[in-house]
Amino acid sequence: MKKYFMLFVSASILLLSGCTDSTNGKDDKHNLTLAHNHPTTHPVHESLEKFKEEVEERSEGDITVSLYPNGELGDEREVIELTQTGAVDITKVSAAALESFRPEYSIFGVPYMFDSVEEFDEKMSDPEIANTIYQSSKDIGFVGLTYFDAGMRSIYTADRMIETTEDMAGMKVRVQPSATSVNMIEALGGTATPMAYSEVYTSLQSGIIDAAENNLSSLVSSKHGEVADHWFFTEHAIVPDMLIMNNELLENMSAEHEKIIHESADVANEFHKGVWNEAMKQAADEAQNEMGVKFHEVDKASFKEAAQPLHEEMKQDETMAPIYEMFKGGDSDEES
Ligand code: GCU
Repeated sequence: MKKYFMLFVSASILLLSGCTDSTNGKDDKHNLTLAHNHPTTHPVHESLEKFKEEVEERSEGDITVSLYPNGELGDEREVIELTQTGAVDITKVSAAALESFRPEYSIFGVPYMFDSVEEFDEKMSDPEIANTIYQSSKDIGFVGLTYFDAGMRSIYTADRMIETTEDMAGMKVRVQPSATSVNMIEALGGTATPMAYSEVYTSLQSGIIDAAENNLSSLVSSKHGEVADHWFFTEHAIVPDMLIMNNELLENMSAEHEKIIHESADVANEFHKGVWNEAMKQAADEAQNEMGVKFHEVDKASFKEAAQPLHEEMKQDETMAPIYEMFKGGDSDEES
């Protein structure tokens, strides 16, 4: 993987420098590399294809986009670093993976931060809120272009049963490599095991972990339903996927091309809203009926109650308090 990756990085740098045409100090032709960790059957890949199509059409071929799915260029942390340096131009990663680069992204990992995907979408549709998040990483080399709804995350287990947080005791749950994700599972009563997404399947299969937490698509697109018998609707977090881009590259584009990138990202965001729900219904159907995963409701009140201390921590944190308040609409005392 690493050898493949380094070969690619060298080739990409050559390619980029080879096809850049500088006019009025602005680069006018670009072949953009876009990396992400989902298979091509995943709805996010479809939305990224839409982004590519829009960019290429609107720029009349002056900007082309090459997609690298399946984590071909590295896991989420690696591709974020590559986007920072500009070795990769655009990346789709989970907001949780961005948290160790900018704390603002940790807001999405607070359990029960939003009551519904509608509430989350409403907040992220407010340009002031979205731009506060997107621009937070400008000084470290990248900015957000848009987000893709990644649904509500719930817990699934190889074979253990869960009803309340008491059943989480001693349960090793894989979490995304982020401090908020670790704190979340610990607060909900489990033992957090941070690891890259690509390792979840074999870790569930071999018993290194007892459980994982994600959206329904993981059961099917990453085949976790083959090694997990039970899905529990804890619906504890809405952690979006983020599309981020190397900032220097974006700023050095002509104003017209920069606009095309932003408009195409907005179109892809809307497109994604249209495909995500249907994809989740299909994933639920396939997981239950073809993979034999059993779906269960839980005592959600016990999970929500256990999450409260994490809300208090955010409200007390100097950097995060204003972000928390921004998302909670100014009413940071409201019960979540
Ligand atoms: C979601 C997200 C991925 C992420 C994964 C994870 O599936 O779309 O980008 O890698 O969660 O739990 O790590």
